[in-house]
Amino acid sequence: VRTDQNRLREIVGPSLTATVVAAIRALYAEMPEPYRVAPDEAASALVPRAFAWPARVARRGGASAAALHVGLGGASLGLTYHVALRTHAIDSALREAVGRGTRQVVLLGAGLDNRAARLGDLAGVRVFEVDHPSTQRYKAQRLRAAGWSQPAGVVEVAIDFERDRLDEALLARGLSERTPTFWIWEGVTVYLTPDAIEATLESVRKCSAPESRIALTYTRPSAIGGRSLWGVATSIARLIGEPVRGALTREELTRSLGRAGFSILSDETVFDWAERVWGRVPPGLREWERLAIAGSPALAGANKVAC
Ligand SMILES: C[S@@+](CC[C@H](N)C(=O)[O-])C[C@H]1O[C@@H](n2cnc3c(N)ncnc32)[C@H](O)[C@@H]1O
Repeated sequence: VRTDQNRLREIVGPSLTATVVAAIRALYAEMPEPYRVAPDEAASALVPRAFAWPARVARRGGASAAALHVGLGGASLGLTYHVALRTHAIDSALREAVGRGTRQVVLLGAGLDNRAARLGDLAGVRVFEVDHPSTQRYKAQRLRAAGWSQPAGVVEVAIDFERDRLDEALLARGLSERTPTFWIWEGVTVYLTPDAIEATLESVRKCSAPESRIALTYTRPSAIGGRSLWGVATSIARLIGEPVRGALTREELTRSLGRAGFSILSDETVFDWAERVWGRVPPGLREWERLAIAGSPALAGANKVAC
């Protein structure tokens, strides 16, 4: 099994889940309106050719794009809708924060996230991309091969959330703990142990100036709509070497964020976003994750401990 996993990694990258979500974003980057939720010229280049075929078909537009939207949405139990819309929802929250003056963003478990390049709003904003070094190398290789590069202002921080101190790594790479930060933890907590989630939030607390925000997705136990589907999804995750370890209830998340000095401002699912962005809920939509956006208090110095 170990050898098979190694071979798989060579083809699809160190994190299959990062490649799959990037492929879904590539598909929706090529969709006609109103489905084009995260335009990105480099999106298809970030994934292996075999994963970019839906994006190539969608580029033709018309009936092919509509068929892909509904077909892949149904076949993936709504995962393709979910990933496209969650990225859009996080982009909206990020733009709002940058509009209010936030100048520092940390992508926790960045994977093949290309926000720093595709969002014009982030020009002049420092973006820290945190992930395993192997994933960062893979992203850099793919961008280079397609003639793209990371924008100036992006700082890579290589850590393992299970072992390393996030606050120390970020400060060593130049994060300012005196500037409000927008933290993004998209599609990651479900793969981490409860201890790693707590340790990461403790680092977030230590490094967050007042008026910081965190946008994080979390998966509730038995999400997707029942124990049998949940069982299938967790078995697949184990098979590809990225087991589900950090499912959280809303109450557990509220407590963990509270310990980090953050309180939840909103907590939404794909049903909310589909209504808002597409004006309708497509058939087959399921709750894979929820997106919580939480804020630290505006009071100067509140909940702030020197790193
Ligand atoms: C589903 S991907 C999401 C990637 C990205 N946030 C996105 O939405 O495109 C999960 C990411 O978490 C990273 N990850 C998982 N466990 C990790 C750990 N222990 N330390 C560092 N990164 C980890 C993986 O390498 C992968 O890039």
